[in-house]
Amino acid sequence: MDSFFRDKVIIVTGASSGIGLAAARLFASYGAKVAMAARSLDKMKQEAASMGSEVICLRADVSKEEDCRRLMQETVLKWGRIDILVNNAGLSMRAMFKDLDLDVLRTLMDVNFWGTVYCTKYALPWLLQSKGSVVGVISIAGYSALPARSGYSASKFAVRGFLDTLRIEHLKDGLHVMVFAPGYTASNVRNAALTADGSAQGETPLDEDKLMSAEECVRYLAKGLRKRSDSMVLTGLGKAAVLAHNLFPGVTDRLTYSYIAKEKDSPFK
Ligand SMILES: NC(=O)c1ccc[n+]([C@@H]2O[C@H](COP(=O)([O-])OP(=O)(O)OC[C@H]3O[C@@H](n4cnc5c(N)ncnc54)[C@H](OP(=O)(O)O)[C@@H]3O)[C@@H](O)[C@H]2O)c1
Repeated sequence: MDSFFRDKVIIVTGASSGIGLAAARLFASYGAKVAMAARSLDKMKQEAASMGSEVICLRADVSKEEDCRRLMQETVLKWGRIDILVNNAGLSMRAMFKDLDLDVLRTLMDVNFWGTVYCTKYALPWLLQSKGSVVGVISIAGYSALPARSGYSASKFAVRGFLDTLRIEHLKDGLHVMVFAPGYTASNVRNAALTADGSAQGETPLDEDKLMSAEECVRYLAKGLRKRSDSMVLTGLGKAAVLAHNLFPGVTDRLTYSYIAKEKDSPFK
Protein backbone atom coordinates (compact mmCIF):
# COMPACT_ATOMS: atom_id res chain seq x y z
CA MET A 1 0.00 0.00 0.00
CA ASP A 2 1.05 3.55 -0.68
CA SER A 3 -0.77 6.57 0.68
CA PHE A 4 -0.31 8.62 -2.51
CA PHE A 5 -1.72 5.98 -4.88
CA ARG A 6 -4.22 4.23 -2.60
CA ASP A 7 -7.78 4.39 -4.06
CA LYS A 8 -6.68 6.58 -6.98
CA VAL A 9 -8.38 5.61 -10.26
CA ILE A 10 -5.63 5.03 -12.82
CA ILE A 11 -6.04 4.15 -16.49
CA VAL A 12 -3.04 2.55 -18.21
CA THR A 13 -3.17 2.02 -21.96
CA GLY A 14 -0.96 -0.64 -23.52
CA ALA A 15 -1.29 -2.63 -20.30
CA SER A 16 -1.02 -6.11 -21.86
CA SER A 17 2.79 -6.07 -22.09
CA GLY A 18 6.06 -4.42 -21.10
CA ILE A 19 6.00 -1.02 -19.40
CA GLY A 20 2.18 -0.76 -19.28
CA LEU A 21 1.78 -4.17 -17.66
CA ALA A 22 4.50 -3.40 -15.11
CA ALA A 23 2.82 -0.05 -14.36
CA ALA A 24 -0.59 -1.70 -13.82
CA ARG A 25 1.01 -4.25 -11.47
CA LEU A 26 2.85 -1.57 -9.48
CA PHE A 27 -0.21 0.70 -9.13
CA ALA A 28 -2.40 -2.26 -8.10
CA SER A 29 0.20 -3.26 -5.48
CA TYR A 30 0.01 0.33 -4.15
CA GLY A 31 -3.76 -0.04 -3.61
CA ALA A 32 -4.91 1.95 -6.66
CA LYS A 33 -8.00 1.11 -8.73
CA VAL A 34 -6.53 0.23 -12.12
CA ALA A 35 -8.19 0.09 -15.54
CA MET A 36 -5.95 -1.87 -17.89
CA ALA A 37 -6.53 -1.21 -21.60
CA ALA A 38 -5.13 -2.81 -24.76
CA ARG A 39 -6.35 -4.96 -27.65
CA SER A 40 -5.30 -8.30 -26.05
CA LEU A 41 -8.12 -8.71 -23.53
CA ASP A 42 -7.44 -12.36 -22.62
CA LYS A 43 -3.79 -11.68 -21.93
CA MET A 44 -4.68 -8.76 -19.65
CA LYS A 45 -7.28 -10.85 -17.81
CA GLN A 46 -4.70 -13.59 -17.19
CA GLU A 47 -2.24 -11.04 -15.79
CA ALA A 48 -4.90 -9.22 -13.76
CA ALA A 49 -5.96 -12.44 -12.01
CA SER A 50 -3.03 -12.04 -9.59
CA MET A 51 -3.41 -8.28 -9.09
CA GLY A 52 -6.32 -8.18 -6.65
CA SER A 53 -9.95 -7.21 -7.05
CA GLU A 54 -9.56 -3.50 -7.86
CA VAL A 55 -8.39 -4.07 -11.44
CA ILE A 56 -10.55 -4.08 -14.57
CA CYS A 57 -9.50 -5.02 -18.10
CA LEU A 58 -11.02 -3.20 -21.04
CA ARG A 59 -10.42 -3.94 -24.69
CA ALA A 60 -9.44 -0.77 -26.54
CA ASP A 61 -7.64 -0.05 -29.77
CA VAL A 62 -6.38 3.45 -29.04
CA SER A 63 -6.21 4.31 -32.74
CA LYS A 64 -10.04 4.23 -32.66
CA GLU A 65 -11.64 7.32 -31.15
CA GLU A 66 -14.79 5.45 -30.11
CA ASP A 67 -12.75 2.83 -28.17
CA CYS A 68 -11.01 5.62 -26.25
CA ARG A 69 -14.29 7.37 -25.46
CA ARG A 70 -15.74 4.07 -24.20
CA LEU A 71 -12.65 3.32 -22.13
CA MET A 72 -13.12 6.53 -20.15
CA GLN A 73 -16.89 6.05 -19.91
CA GLU A 74 -16.61 2.48 -18.57
CA THR A 75 -13.95 3.47 -16.05
CA VAL A 76 -16.11 6.32 -14.75
CA LEU A 77 -19.18 4.05 -14.64
CA LYS A 78 -17.19 1.63 -12.47
CA TRP A 79 -15.43 4.06 -10.11
CA GLY A 80 -16.98 7.49 -10.69
CA ARG A 81 -13.74 9.37 -11.31
CA ILE A 82 -10.36 9.38 -13.07
CA ASP A 83 -7.22 10.51 -11.22
CA ILE A 84 -4.40 9.45 -13.54
CA LEU A 85 -4.26 8.60 -17.25
CA VAL A 86 -1.08 6.95 -18.50
CA ASN A 87 -0.98 7.10 -22.30
CA ASN A 88 1.48 4.27 -22.76
CA ALA A 89 0.14 2.22 -25.71
CA GLY A 90 2.70 2.41 -28.46
CA LEU A 91 4.21 0.87 -31.52
CA SER A 92 7.65 1.23 -33.10
CA MET A 93 9.14 0.66 -36.56
CA ARG A 94 12.47 -0.02 -38.22
CA ALA A 95 13.01 0.88 -41.88
CA MET A 96 14.52 3.68 -43.91
CA PHE A 97 11.93 6.25 -44.98
CA LYS A 98 12.90 5.78 -48.66
CA ASP A 99 11.69 2.15 -48.43
CA LEU A 100 8.71 2.77 -46.17
CA ASP A 101 5.09 2.08 -47.09
CA LEU A 102 3.36 5.29 -45.97
CA ASP A 103 0.66 3.24 -44.24
CA VAL A 104 3.29 2.29 -41.64
CA LEU A 105 3.86 5.94 -40.80
CA ARG A 106 0.09 6.53 -40.67
CA THR A 107 -0.34 3.58 -38.29
CA LEU A 108 2.36 4.89 -35.95
CA MET A 109 0.74 8.33 -35.86
CA ASP A 110 -2.70 6.74 -35.31
CA VAL A 111 -1.55 4.65 -32.34
CA ASN A 112 1.14 6.79 -30.70
CA PHE A 113 -0.14 10.32 -31.39
CA TRP A 114 -3.88 10.05 -32.05
CA GLY A 115 -4.26 7.36 -29.36
CA THR A 116 -2.84 9.82 -26.82
CA VAL A 117 -5.00 12.66 -28.14
CA TYR A 118 -8.26 10.63 -28.09
CA CYS A 119 -7.72 9.21 -24.60
CA THR A 120 -6.67 12.58 -23.20
CA LYS A 121 -9.66 14.34 -24.79
CA TYR A 122 -12.23 12.00 -23.18
CA ALA A 123 -10.43 11.77 -19.81
CA LEU A 124 -9.77 15.51 -19.51
CA PRO A 125 -13.07 16.64 -17.93
CA TRP A 126 -12.57 14.03 -15.20
CA LEU A 127 -8.88 14.83 -14.75
CA LEU A 128 -9.73 18.52 -14.38
CA GLN A 129 -12.30 17.61 -11.74
CA SER A 130 -9.82 15.50 -9.77
CA LYS A 131 -6.85 17.85 -10.44
CA GLY A 132 -5.22 14.69 -11.64
CA SER A 133 -2.37 13.68 -13.92
CA VAL A 134 -2.06 12.90 -17.60
CA VAL A 135 1.12 11.18 -18.74
CA GLY A 136 2.46 10.59 -22.23
CA VAL A 137 5.02 7.81 -22.48
CA ILE A 138 7.27 9.08 -25.24
CA SER A 139 10.89 8.09 -25.87
CA ILE A 140 14.36 9.55 -26.21
CA ALA A 141 13.39 9.46 -29.91
CA GLY A 142 10.85 12.16 -29.01
CA TYR A 143 13.75 14.52 -28.17
CA SER A 144 16.56 13.37 -30.45
CA ALA A 145 15.61 11.83 -33.81
CA LEU A 146 16.41 8.18 -34.44
CA PRO A 147 17.19 7.04 -38.01
CA ALA A 148 15.06 4.25 -39.47
CA ARG A 149 12.32 5.26 -37.00
CA SER A 150 10.96 8.31 -38.85
CA GLY A 151 7.33 7.57 -37.95
CA TYR A 152 8.23 6.66 -34.38
CA SER A 153 10.29 9.80 -33.78
CA ALA A 154 7.68 12.00 -35.50
CA SER A 155 4.85 10.54 -33.40
CA LYS A 156 6.78 10.92 -30.13
CA PHE A 157 7.83 14.51 -30.95
CA ALA A 158 4.15 15.17 -31.70
CA VAL A 159 2.99 13.76 -28.35
CA ARG A 160 5.56 15.94 -26.56
CA GLY A 161 4.37 19.04 -28.42
CA PHE A 162 0.75 18.19 -27.69
CA LEU A 163 1.23 17.56 -23.97
CA ASP A 164 3.59 20.51 -23.41
CA THR A 165 0.86 22.71 -24.92
CA LEU A 166 -1.83 21.14 -22.73
CA ARG A 167 0.30 21.81 -19.63
CA ILE A 168 0.44 25.54 -20.39
CA GLU A 169 -3.28 25.73 -21.23
CA HIS A 170 -4.10 24.27 -17.80
CA LEU A 171 -1.33 25.87 -15.75
CA LYS A 172 -3.90 27.47 -13.42
CA ASP A 173 -6.33 24.52 -13.25
CA GLY A 174 -4.31 22.10 -11.12
CA LEU A 175 -3.85 19.63 -13.97
CA HIS A 176 -0.55 17.76 -13.90
CA VAL A 177 0.89 16.90 -17.35
CA MET A 178 4.01 14.73 -17.56
CA VAL A 179 6.05 13.76 -20.59
CA PHE A 180 7.80 10.52 -19.60
CA ALA A 181 10.68 9.33 -21.78
CA PRO A 182 12.09 5.89 -21.00
CA GLY A 183 15.43 4.91 -22.48
CA TYR A 184 15.94 1.43 -23.87
CA THR A 185 13.75 -0.85 -21.70
CA ALA A 186 13.30 -4.62 -21.98
CA SER A 187 9.87 -5.31 -23.54
CA ASN A 188 8.15 -6.60 -26.66
CA VAL A 189 8.39 -3.23 -28.46
CA ARG A 190 11.20 -4.20 -30.85
CA ASN A 191 9.60 -7.57 -31.74
CA ALA A 192 6.31 -5.84 -32.54
CA ALA A 193 8.03 -2.99 -34.46
CA LEU A 194 6.84 -2.63 -38.05
CA THR A 195 9.18 -3.07 -41.01
CA ALA A 196 9.00 -1.23 -44.36
CA ASP A 197 5.98 -3.24 -45.58
CA GLY A 198 4.06 -3.11 -42.29
CA SER A 199 4.87 -6.64 -41.10
CA ALA A 200 6.19 -7.09 -37.56
CA GLN A 201 9.96 -7.28 -37.20
CA GLY A 202 9.56 -10.38 -34.99
CA GLU A 203 12.98 -10.04 -33.34
CA THR A 204 15.02 -7.48 -31.46
CA PRO A 205 18.37 -6.09 -32.60
CA LEU A 206 19.32 -5.44 -28.93
CA ASP A 207 20.31 -7.68 -26.04
CA GLU A 208 17.11 -7.15 -24.03
CA ASP A 209 18.68 -8.64 -20.85
CA LYS A 210 21.11 -5.71 -20.69
CA LEU A 211 18.37 -3.05 -20.83
CA MET A 212 16.52 -1.37 -17.97
CA SER A 213 13.70 -3.63 -16.75
CA ALA A 214 10.09 -2.52 -17.18
CA GLU A 215 9.71 -2.81 -13.39
CA GLU A 216 12.53 -0.31 -12.78
CA CYS A 217 11.15 2.00 -15.47
CA VAL A 218 7.73 2.21 -13.80
CA ARG A 219 9.24 2.95 -10.39
CA TYR A 220 10.49 6.18 -12.00
CA LEU A 221 7.03 6.74 -13.47
CA ALA A 222 5.51 6.48 -9.98
CA LYS A 223 8.15 8.88 -8.64
CA GLY A 224 7.33 11.42 -11.37
CA LEU A 225 3.62 11.16 -10.55
CA ARG A 226 4.23 11.70 -6.85
CA LYS A 227 6.42 14.76 -7.52
CA ARG A 228 4.11 15.98 -10.30
CA SER A 229 7.15 16.36 -12.57
CA ASP A 230 6.67 18.02 -15.97
CA SER A 231 9.05 15.60 -17.66
CA MET A 232 11.37 12.69 -16.99
CA VAL A 233 14.14 11.28 -19.17
CA LEU A 234 15.52 7.87 -18.20
CA THR A 235 18.83 5.99 -18.45
CA GLY A 236 22.32 7.43 -18.62
CA LEU A 237 22.45 6.97 -22.38
CA GLY A 238 19.04 8.61 -22.80
CA LYS A 239 19.98 11.64 -20.67
CA ALA A 240 23.30 11.99 -22.55
CA ALA A 241 21.51 11.79 -25.92
CA VAL A 242 19.01 14.53 -25.01
CA LEU A 243 21.71 16.80 -23.55
CA ALA A 244 24.07 16.27 -26.52
CA HIS A 245 21.23 16.89 -28.97
CA ASN A 246 20.44 20.24 -27.29
CA LEU A 247 24.06 21.37 -27.03
CA PHE A 248 25.67 19.92 -30.17
CA PRO A 249 22.97 18.84 -32.63
CA GLY A 250 25.30 18.36 -35.62
CA VAL A 251 27.79 16.21 -33.72
CA THR A 252 24.91 14.23 -32.22
CA ASP A 253 23.52 13.47 -35.70
CA ARG A 254 26.88 11.95 -36.68
CA LEU A 255 27.18 10.00 -33.40
CA THR A 256 23.61 8.70 -33.80
CA TYR A 257 24.41 7.60 -37.37
CA SER A 258 27.47 5.64 -36.16
CA TYR A 259 25.51 4.12 -33.25
CA ILE A 260 22.67 2.87 -35.47
CA ALA A 261 25.12 1.71 -38.18
CA LYS A 262 26.55 -0.72 -35.60
CA GLU A 263 23.11 -2.27 -34.81
CA LYS A 264 22.53 -5.87 -35.79
CA ASP A 265 21.16 -5.87 -39.40
CA SER A 266 21.48 -2.09 -39.49
CA PRO A 267 19.11 -0.49 -42.01
CA PHE A 268 22.10 1.59 -43.28
CA LYS A 269 23.76 -1.50 -44.78
N1 LIG B 1 10.81 -0.51 -24.48
C1 LIG B 1 11.51 0.55 -24.83
O1 LIG B 1 12.74 0.48 -25.06
C2 LIG B 1 10.83 1.88 -24.90
C3 LIG B 1 11.63 3.04 -24.87
C4 LIG B 1 11.02 4.28 -24.93
C5 LIG B 1 9.65 4.37 -25.01
N2 LIG B 1 8.89 3.23 -25.03
C6 LIG B 1 7.43 3.39 -25.13
O2 LIG B 1 6.84 2.70 -24.05
C7 LIG B 1 5.50 2.38 -24.42
C8 LIG B 1 5.23 0.93 -24.05
O3 LIG B 1 6.02 0.10 -24.88
P1 LIG B 1 6.72 -1.24 -24.38
O4 LIG B 1 8.16 -1.04 -24.52
O5 LIG B 1 6.17 -1.67 -23.09
O6 LIG B 1 6.28 -2.20 -25.58
P2 LIG B 1 5.36 -3.50 -25.66
O7 LIG B 1 5.84 -4.52 -24.70
O8 LIG B 1 5.37 -3.84 -27.12
O9 LIG B 1 3.93 -2.98 -25.23
C9 LIG B 1 3.17 -2.15 -26.07
C10 LIG B 1 1.76 -2.09 -25.55
O10 LIG B 1 1.01 -1.22 -26.41
C11 LIG B 1 -0.19 -1.87 -26.76
N3 LIG B 1 -0.70 -1.42 -28.05
C12 LIG B 1 -0.09 -1.46 -29.26
N4 LIG B 1 -0.93 -1.00 -30.21
C13 LIG B 1 -2.08 -0.69 -29.57
C14 LIG B 1 -3.33 -0.17 -30.01
N5 LIG B 1 -3.59 0.11 -31.30
N6 LIG B 1 -4.31 0.03 -29.09
C15 LIG B 1 -4.08 -0.27 -27.78
N7 LIG B 1 -2.93 -0.74 -27.32
C16 LIG B 1 -1.95 -0.95 -28.21
C17 LIG B 1 0.14 -3.35 -26.76
O11 LIG B 1 -1.04 -4.13 -26.50
P3 LIG B 1 -1.94 -4.92 -27.55
O12 LIG B 1 -1.03 -5.42 -28.62
O13 LIG B 1 -2.56 -5.98 -26.71
O14 LIG B 1 -2.95 -3.92 -28.03
C18 LIG B 1 1.07 -3.44 -25.56
O15 LIG B 1 0.34 -3.59 -24.38
C19 LIG B 1 5.36 2.68 -25.91
O16 LIG B 1 4.70 3.91 -26.07
C20 LIG B 1 6.81 2.79 -26.36
O17 LIG B 1 6.94 3.63 -27.49
C21 LIG B 1 9.45 2.00 -24.97
